[in-house]
Amino acid sequence: MTSEPVFLKPNVVIEPLIDSWYAWTHLLSPATAALNVTKRHMDIIDSYLHDPLAHAQAVANPKMRGGPFMDLPGQPLEEIKALRERTVRERPGLFALAAAIKELNTLLQAQAKGYSLEPLYQKVPDILKGYVELYYDLSNNPSFRFFESLLYKSEFHCEEAQEIALWLTDNDHRPFCLSTPRLPDAHTIRMRMPFSHRGIDDLARMKRSPLPLEKIRDRLGIAAGDIPLFETFFTAEPPRPYRKYDGDKIRMRYFGHACILIETKELSILLDPLISYYGYPSDVDHFSDFDLPETIDYVLITHNHQDHILLETLLPLRHKIRHLIVPGSKGGRLEDPELPLLLRAIGFRNVVAMDEMEKVSFHDCVITGLPFTGEHCDLNIQSKLCYHVEIGKFSLLFMADSRIMEPAVYSHVHREIGDVDVIFLGMECDGAPLSWLYGPLLPRKLPREQDGGRRLAGSDCEKGLSLVDIFHPRELYVYAMGQEPWLEFISSIKYTEDSNPIVQSDKLIGICGQRGILAERLFGEKEILYERKPESLSINVIS
Ligand SMILES: [Fe+2]
Repeated sequence: MTSEPVFLKPNVVIEPLIDSWYAWTHLLSPATAALNVTKRHMDIIDSYLHDPLAHAQAVANPKMRGGPFMDLPGQPLEEIKALRERTVRERPGLFALAAAIKELNTLLQAQAKGYSLEPLYQKVPDILKGYVELYYDLSNNPSFRFFESLLYKSEFHCEEAQEIALWLTDNDHRPFCLSTPRLPDAHTIRMRMPFSHRGIDDLARMKRSPLPLEKIRDRLGIAAGDIPLFETFFTAEPPRPYRKYDGDKIRMRYFGHACILIETKELSILLDPLISYYGYPSDVDHFSDFDLPETIDYVLITHNHQDHILLETLLPLRHKIRHLIVPGSKGGRLEDPELPLLLRAIGFRNVVAMDEMEKVSFHDCVITGLPFTGEHCDLNIQSKLCYHVEIGKFSLLFMADSRIMEPAVYSHVHREIGDVDVIFLGMECDGAPLSWLYGPLLPRKLPREQDGGRRLAGSDCEKGLSLVDIFHPRELYVYAMGQEPWLEFISSIKYTEDSNPIVQSDKLIGICGQRGILAERLFGEKEILYERKPESLSINVIS
């Protein structure tokens, strides 16, 4: 089989890992990585080593889903101990960086009292010198920002921690990825390589374009002992061919969660890519990799949450993305890593930073970045954008998880963009408390009531309705609910019909129906074709 051209099987997972943990953005940006490794990872490991039974009981309890518990039933403790020791031994820089950030916070709280900060520079911990700027906000609260671009050039950017796990999946079950590391197993090949390695692109291309096995084996440097397993990831059978959309309409395809593909015969736009695998039985119909075009003109990322910016999907798509649009932020604040820098650091060469009300135009399409409010626990995080996509005279509004706390924002936006034809709105309206995602970054634990009151919550019915009142859509789709089985490992969400997000979204859908607005909560897959001109709008629901 080695010299025959072969295809990569559609259920091969190309899983990026960082020191054996699922790779997400806060493990890439050096400062957030330091705090997540030393707090989130070490706390979970120590807790597990102290009482593995408690973790086993917690992961078996659906109410504890998404909590800081390792889902490793029956795994020997020695492997977790070894992971802990290896991390401490191999990443002293991250531990030192985390300690220095803590020390700098303490210094500023104790000594920055409204007078000049200049004398404090000499007291900044040595390893942080030259990487931070100290400042006050206008109310004299001291803080600091990182020169993040310099941090990516420093010893704290640990490319050597990056690896790719290759394995075949035959179901959608995976442990919650922020709490459970990936231990070695007999079915997985682990390849130490930076995520910028172009061999990842070559491998991903093989889903459609075959290569001789020996060529990709050599390109990736597969060890001799792994070759028999490596060979099982490939097949001589060609995949189902992709058929480019060549009609005159606008085709919307929902791929699950917030992942939507917009195509016309001239262009393609993919939002918040999260692509499921294919080639094993599933109860839920879904589009997959085979349904993506050969090249994607624009990929749009709405915000820096782990279920909206998935490296596991983005890296295999990297070779086909022409432009990657992300919210631009240049704050250098710990809680808001700069996405353009982060993505360029892992080999994306075509990242475009977009700001609120900025536009990109091509063919008959205009993409406008819009304010994204809420869902970030009232932290000063700017890496978030909603998008208005106008093709011809037809317009779609992608609101992601934006929580409409102040409708006036969107009334102002409406003055600029007018009514829209379709709204996509996330309604995960309860959301996790602040500490769930941002806890490791806090210098001090928040009081319980504050933590619980500041949530990663999207819009409820009333807030969604305010958007309807402003933009007068003909259709509204609730999406980004984290419900598809292939993303439970990252969303940790499992609703019942009594769950508030379901109750609230049902209510909004009902009210829209009474007003003659087509409304639905999306799940699995959906395809809709739109006429380009709103006055002759017709809808063909194919699936
Ligand atoms: Fe979110």
